[in-house]
Amino acid sequence: MLRTERLTLRPWFESDADSLFKYASDPDVGPRAGCPPHNSVEESLEIIRTVFHNDSNWAIELNATGEAIGAIGYGPSCECNLPAREGEPLCGYWVAKPYWNQGICTEALQAMLDYIRRTTDVRSLISGHFVDNPASGRVMEKCGFQPTGETCIDETQYQGKDRPIRVLRLELK
Ligand SMILES: CC(C)(COP(=O)(O)OP(=O)(O)OC[C@H]1O[C@@H](n2cnc3c(N)ncnc32)[C@H](O)[C@@H]1OP(=O)(O)O)[C@@H](O)C(=O)NCCC(=O)NCCS
Repeated sequence: MLRTERLTLRPWFESDADSLFKYASDPDVGPRAGCPPHNSVEESLEIIRTVFHNDSNWAIELNATGEAIGAIGYGPSCECNLPAREGEPLCGYWVAKPYWNQGICTEALQAMLDYIRRTTDVRSLISGHFVDNPASGRVMEKCGFQPTGETCIDETQYQGKDRPIRVLRLELK
């Protein structure tokens, strides 16, 4: 568990399925990260049991309400075509639309990066955002990521085809 002033980054619980569905069914959320919107609470529950069930994915819980309002994590970058270094993890995140532009994602990313620095020997992280989603790039830049100057096309992802991805990297060591 990672705690900040407004947030707790903690594992996903099956009891989060309703809020996950409420926020991740929003067509303005998943597609900006290359994922389809969730179609049912059952699908959200399955994602909690599978995709989110590991040590490097967290629910972003709002301390004021105890509700999960987003997701953040890092992991192997081999399933996308970002130009990662060997073994370099990819990081990603989303925040529920009612909470956008309040510094929530920046606060969560900063907490995860502090944790990675403290507890792992990860040397750098890679990430990217669709060029038509500049808010995500701004979050990365506020946390120290630098554009590599590269763009790539991820043809494997939902709606990813022909949407260029701007690549950024954070050197941790
Ligand atoms: C991208 C996302 C995670 C940002 O979350 P957030 O909690 O609103 O982020 P923050 O408030 O910490 O920071 C957002 C920054 O983007 C800026 N921003 C917002 N819209 C912008 C736009 N259209 N163009 C440029 N900057 C923009 C904000 O002003 C803010 O920067 P500032 O603090 O310098 O003013 C959220 O919008 C989201 O979940 N989007 C859908 C999923 C997604 O895109 N995930 C990332 C995939 S790579």
